[in-house]
Amino acid sequence: MEKTDQLDELLICRLDLARKVIEPCTIVIFGASGDLTARKLIPALFHLFIEKQLPNPIRIIGFARREKTHESWRDEMGDALKKFSRTKDIDDPAQWQEFVKNLFYCQGDFGDEKAYRGLGEQLASFKNEQLQRNLLFYLSTSPSQFAEVVEHLNRAQLLVKNESAKFWQRVVVEKPFGHDLASAQQLNSELTRYAHERQIYRIDHYLGKETVQNILMFRFSNAVFEHVWNRECVDHVQITVSEKLGVGSRGGYYEEAGALRDMVQNHLLQVLALVAMEPPVTLEAECIRDEKVKLLKAIRQLLPVQVAGNVVRGQYIEGKLDGQPRIAYRNEVKVRPDSNVETFVAARFLIDNWRWSGVPFYLRTGKNLPLSASEVRIQFRPTPNVLFAAQCGPKLDANAITLRLQPDEGISLRFNGKIPGTSMQLRPVRMHFSYDSEFGAYTPEAYERLLLEAISGDATLFIRRDEVETAWRIIDPIREAWAPEPLNESEFYAAGTWGPKAADELLANHGHNWRNPQPVA
Ligand code: BG6
Repeated sequence: MEKTDQLDELLICRLDLARKVIEPCTIVIFGASGDLTARKLIPALFHLFIEKQLPNPIRIIGFARREKTHESWRDEMGDALKKFSRTKDIDDPAQWQEFVKNLFYCQGDFGDEKAYRGLGEQLASFKNEQLQRNLLFYLSTSPSQFAEVVEHLNRAQLLVKNESAKFWQRVVVEKPFGHDLASAQQLNSELTRYAHERQIYRIDHYLGKETVQNILMFRFSNAVFEHVWNRECVDHVQITVSEKLGVGSRGGYYEEAGALRDMVQNHLLQVLALVAMEPPVTLEAECIRDEKVKLLKAIRQLLPVQVAGNVVRGQYIEGKLDGQPRIAYRNEVKVRPDSNVETFVAARFLIDNWRWSGVPFYLRTGKNLPLSASEVRIQFRPTPNVLFAAQCGPKLDANAITLRLQPDEGISLRFNGKIPGTSMQLRPVRMHFSYDSEFGAYTPEAYERLLLEAISGDATLFIRRDEVETAWRIIDPIREAWAPEPLNESEFYAAGTWGPKAADELLANHGHNWRNPQPVA
C-alpha cells in the first residue's frame, strides 16, 4: 500500500472513531415540571430534532408528581419553547407538531413503586425493543431524590446494572453532587449500588460550552502556545466568572449553596483543570478525565488556618447596576436577614507539579458584579525591562492571552507595539480572534451538546466520581474555616462593584492585580 493510502486509511479510521453512535432510545426526565425541563431540556431536544441529530425514532417521557395528560404537558412545553428557545420562537410550527408526537407524560411520586410500573407500561407501549430498553434517565430532581429514583428504577428492572451488550441504560444527574466530600461519597456509593460508574453522567454545563471545549484544542493543537504554557513563561493565571444577576428567585437554593459550592467547586475548578492539565494520551473520555483528576489532585489543599490568606468571600449589599438599584442579598426572597452565605469568592490556588510549581491561579466569581463575563487570562512573565525602562518606566506591560469563554467568545493576545513616530514609545496592542466573525453567530446551547453526548454514550464532557470527590477535598477546608465566622464589615460589597476590597488585596499582596473583563464594543 502506498504511504498516502495508509495515511488516508488511518484518517478514515480516526474519523470513524469520532463518529457518534446514535441509537433509538427513550429519554425519561424526572422532575419534568421543573424549570430546567422547560428552560433548557425541551428546547435543546427540539433544536437537536430540527437539526436531525436525534436518533430516529426517539421518545421523551416527562415524569413528575403533578396530574397532567400527554396533551397538557405538550402544550406546556410548547409555551415554554416560545419563551426560552435560543431562536426565540418555534421557527417552524410543523416541525414542532412532528416533535411533540414523541412527548409523553407519566404521573407519579418518586417514592411510589406503582409509578415505576406505570413507566414500564408506557415504555412497553412503544413496541420497539430499542425504545423500550435503550433508556436515558435524566434526574432533574432535588439531589436528595437521586438515590431513591435510581433504586426504584433498578428494582423495576428498567435500569440494569449489568447492561446487556445489546441495550444500554444511562443516568444523567445534575449538580449539586453532594454538599461536601462526605455527602458526595455517600451519593456516589448510592448511585453505584444500582448502576455502574460508566452508566452515570454527571453534568457540569460549563463543559458543554464550545469555548470551554476549545481550551484543549487551543492548547494541544497549536505548537506555539503549548511551549509557553508553563512556569518558565507564565507569571500567573486569572479565571473570572462574573455575573450581573443577583440570586433572584433562587434564594432558597442559594442559602444552602453559596458561591463556593454553586460555582467554584464545579465550573471554575473544571475550567482550571482544562487550562492546566497535561496532554491526554488519546482523546478518549477516560484519558481526558484521568488528566483532569491528576491536575485537581495536584492543587495544594489549604489548611483551615491558611484560608484567610488565600481565599476571600463577599456578600452583596444594595447598590446600582446599569443605573438600576439592586437590593442587598439579605433582602432577597427566601434569604435569612442575617445570612452569612457568600455571593462572591476570590481564591489563590497553587498547583504542586512540575509544570506549574510556584505559579498562582487566581479564581474569582460573584453575583451582582458590573459585567457578565467568563474569562481565563494567562499572564506571562515580564521581560527584563532594561531596554525600554527610559520610555516606559517599570510599567512595560507583560504579554497575556485571554480566552473569553462568554459572551463575545474569542481569544486575544496582548503584546507591546511601537507607537508610530520618531520616538521609541510603546503601548500594548491586541490581536483578536472572534468566534462570531470567524464561524458566524451559531453557538449551540450547552445542553444540546451534553444531551447528544449522553445519548451517544460519550462521557468525556461529564464529571467522573473521582473528579467530584477531589474537587470537594479542595473546597471542604475553606467551608470549614468560614463556617464558625460571621461575615465582617469588610466582606460586604456594593452591588455593581467588583467585590470586596480584600479580593484586590489578595492579589496585591503578591504583586498582582485583577484584570477585569471588558465589555466588547
Ligand atoms: C449555575 C449556577 O450552575 O451556573 C448559577 O447554579 C449560575 O448560579 C450559572 O448563574 C451560570 O451559568 P452560565 O452558563 O450562565 O454562566
